[in-house]
Amino acid sequence: MLAREFDVLTPERSMKFERVQPLRGDFTFAEADTVVNFAEAHDQRVRGHALLWHQMIPDWIRDARFSRDEWKSVFRDHIHTVVGQYRGRVICWDVVNEAVSDDAGMRGTLWHTAMGEEYIDWAFHCAHEADPGVPLFYNDFGTDDLGPKSNAVYALLKRLLERGVPIHGVGLQMHLTQQWFPPVHEIAENIRRLADLGLRVHITEMDVRFRRPMTPGKLARQATAYRMALQVSLEAAACDVFTVWGYTDRYSWVPSHFRGWGAALICDQKLRPKPAYRALAAELQDGPER
Ligand code: XIL
Repeated sequence: MLAREFDVLTPERSMKFERVQPLRGDFTFAEADTVVNFAEAHDQRVRGHALLWHQMIPDWIRDARFSRDEWKSVFRDHIHTVVGQYRGRVICWDVVNEAVSDDAGMRGTLWHTAMGEEYIDWAFHCAHEADPGVPLFYNDFGTDDLGPKSNAVYALLKRLLERGVPIHGVGLQMHLTQQWFPPVHEIAENIRRLADLGLRVHITEMDVRFRRPMTPGKLARQATAYRMALQVSLEAAACDVFTVWGYTDRYSWVPSHFRGWGAALICDQKLRPKPAYRALAAELQDGPER
C-alpha cells in the first residue's frame, strides 16, 4: 500500500539524532537507508526529517553541558554528515524542528540556553554547506492557522531571512485533534503570508486524533478535516507536498503519546480505508465539493 498510494515518504524516526548518531561520532544509517532505498525502488521522493529537534536525542546530547562553541561543532559534525549522506537523495530537509514553544516564546532547549536563537542560523548554514542544492525547511506544530504561535514562527522566519539565513520553506505539521480544527480561511491566510516571504510550504505530518471510541460522527468530522487541509494545500501555489503522519491506525504515534486518543489516520488497524481516505481520494479526483 505504501508503494502504491504515495509518492513522497518521510522517515518517521530513522533520521533523527538518536538514531543516526547514538554515540558521539558513531553514525549509523542502516535504518534510514531502508526507507530511502524503498522510496527509490518505487520511484518515490523522500523528505529529510529532522536534523535538530529537542526530542529523540541520545544521552550524550541530553546530558551535555556544552559551551556555545562546542554546540556549534557538534551540530556542524552531525548536520554535515547526515546531509552529506543523503545529498541528491532527499527533496528537502527539516533542519530545525519545533523551536517555538506553545506560549509563542523560543523553546528553552539546552542549545537555546547556550547559543540563543543563533543556533538556528548555524544549523541552516551548516546544512547549506553540506548540500547547497537542497531546499531547507523549518517545521513546527500548532502553527497551521493564525494565532500567537504561528505569528511567532512567522516572525522568526522573517528574522532568519533578513539575516540572510539559507531557508527555503516551512512545514506545517497539521496534527489536528477533535478540539483543534483550525478555520480553513486562516490556514489559507497563513500559507499566503509565508509564501509572501518567498518560502515554500509543505503540510508535513497530518493526522486528526480523537478520543476513543470512534463513532460515525467522529469519522465524518475527521474526513472533513482531512479534505479541508488537502483542499487548502492544493489551492495554494506555494504548497506542493501534503504528507500524512502514517496511513494506518495500526502504526501511529498517537495512542502511545496521548492516552485515550487514537484513530488519527486514514485507514483503520486492518488497513481498511476510513471515510477520511475516501475524502482525500474524492478531493484528488474531483476537486472541491460543490
Ligand atoms: C514522532 C514519531 O511519530 C514517534 O514515533 C516518535 O516516538 C516521536 O516522534 N512532531 C514531529 C515528529 O516533528 O517527528 C514526531 O514524530 C511527532 C511530532
